Amino acid sequence: MGDVVEMRLRKKTPESWARDVIAHLPEFLADHASCELQASVFALSLVGSYPEDQRLVDVLSALAAEELRHFRKAVRECRRAGATVKTRRKNPYVARLRQGCQSRTEPARAVELLVTAAIIEMRSHERFTALLPLLPDGRLKRFYEELARAEERHGPAYLDLAQARGGQALVESTLERLLDIEDEAVTDSGGSRDIAVHSPMPARGTAGEN
Ligand SMILES: [Fe+2]
Ligand SMILES: [Fe+2]
Repeated sequence: MGDVVEMRLRKKTPESWARDVIAHLPEFLADHASCELQASVFALSLVGSYPEDQRLVDVLSALAAEELRHFRKAVRECRRAGATVKTRRKNPYVARLRQGCQSRTEPARAVELLVTAAIIEMRSHERFTALLPLLPDGRLKRFYEELARAEERHGPAYLDLAQARGGQALVESTLERLLDIEDEAVTDSGGSRDIAVHSPMPARGTAGEN
């Protein structure tokens, strides 16, 4: 099987991103709740696509249940903050990564989808971690601490499933290609000023500030 594949995002989120979020928390919470629901649905769609893969079914059905618990908690936080959850919201960041998933044959298709999920989980974890120092002590901070711990496990879990299906070399080449796309997706806002879990880095402060 070879070594465990390492994954490292190309760019670190600057503190200026977290400051923007703190200034628009209800908008962020609404986006976050919808991300948790999408994470659960995506995990279940993979279970539906690969029901013969026992390990994938066990890992991703448990992960989907965990994401659904996160969704329920995030919805509660949303309501407390007076925000409305828009669950059918389009996530331009995810859409861009999915455009990079064009394979129609196996195992390349499964590997692309699993690696995409791994990258999204890793960025989510990185974003929650960036937010934590700016949140005042209290319920919301404890919520994001709990989530950061969970999302930290999810990225490697997806990568591990990808490696089991496609092997180390395919996972490494797919990861390199999709990490480049991820880098573009968090760098170029396309003119959007939305506050979101996966919103692009602020134009200012992307050169190593943190
Ligand atoms: Fe989650
Ligand atoms: Fe997750």
